[in-house]
Amino acid sequence: MEETKTKDIILSVKDLSTSFFLREGEVKAVDGVSFSVRKGECLALVGESGSGKTVTALSMLRLVVWPPGKIKSGEVILDGVSVFDLPMKNMKDVRGKGMAMILQEPMSSLNPSQTIGQQIQEAVEINQGLKGEEAKKKAIEMLGIVRIPSPEKRYYNYPHELSGGMKQRIMIAIALSCRPKVLIADEPTCSLDVTIQAQILRLMQQLRKEIDTTILFITSDLGIVAEMADRVAIMYAGQLIEICDVFTLFENSAHPYTKGIMGSITAMKEGGRLNIISGDPPDLMALPSGCKFHPRCEYCQEICKTEEPGYTDLSGTGDHWVRCHFPLNKK
Ligand SMILES: Nc1ncnc2c1ncn2[C@@H]1O[C@H](COP(=O)(O)OP(=O)(O)OP(=O)(O)O)[C@@H](O)[C@H]1O
Ligand SMILES: [Mg+2]
Repeated sequence: MEETKTKDIILSVKDLSTSFFLREGEVKAVDGVSFSVRKGECLALVGESGSGKTVTALSMLRLVVWPPGKIKSGEVILDGVSVFDLPMKNMKDVRGKGMAMILQEPMSSLNPSQTIGQQIQEAVEINQGLKGEEAKKKAIEMLGIVRIPSPEKRYYNYPHELSGGMKQRIMIAIALSCRPKVLIADEPTCSLDVTIQAQILRLMQQLRKEIDTTILFITSDLGIVAEMADRVAIMYAGQLIEICDVFTLFENSAHPYTKGIMGSITAMKEGGRLNIISGDPPDLMALPSGCKFHPRCEYCQEICKTEEPGYTDLSGTGDHWVRCHFPLNKK
């Protein structure tokens, strides 16, 4: 799968495969995933639980730990640099300044024994080359940017003194302090209640406009996709099965799985959650032959059971790719 608009591309992932080798067998968590992120855009990586979203992001940062995890193949090019070819000791420059990740579980990512101010300041010192009072001033400024009230006082708070929503803002402040080329947000609001979720999303949107960040937004919430993303990449069973812009996703998606999770308007009405599709979720240790989605697909035909579909460029311009023998879109 080649995307045609190569000139604005800041990050490209090519044919990435990552597995976990367990006693029971190989878990193919990520299986031949390719996508690109353009400068300044927000690309949403969407899929049901266990589809391989987090492992894709961790692989890009080379944070998959052996044993049992292993990147089997692939290439990650960040702003012209081949990340997998770098010596491991250079990865500290990629993590943070290159790609900064806001983790799925923010509560466990902050250091409980250090003030939040110190933790932001550390990111500022490492990534922006500031020291002492200057770095502290910048850390306080970052607290203000993520709308923490009374930043001068809050600088001295420990994580346990903050609410969940505030802690998530601190995580965003730390990630932004790295001035990353790409910000990876892995379901950054899933552990928060709905009102705080909305506040954090609004904040991220404002920051996007103010700071012009490129974002890879991992989520299984279609409401968030509609609000945040320019384009979307849909994952199923460790594979990327459709990639298109958000308008096309809602109006003219082509993969039966995508159509299924969209569930017309209901998904949006019910808090943006993915529609549940009948049939069992895939067992990554015993994947079906042919198209991975065929056992759950209402349009399944003989070829789908035996032959894995390649990618089809539906737009003719490289903007809408689908991995299906019988794409459903209207064109
Ligand atoms: N350390 C690990 N050891 C074994 N299997 C793992 C490990 N980490 C992830 N997996 C498996 O890899 C698959 C993909 O996991 P991943 O965390 O990427 O899913 P996800 O799409 O992020 O799901 P969620 O929406 O629940 O966060 C899952 O089947 C998971 O069980
Ligand atoms: Mg995840």
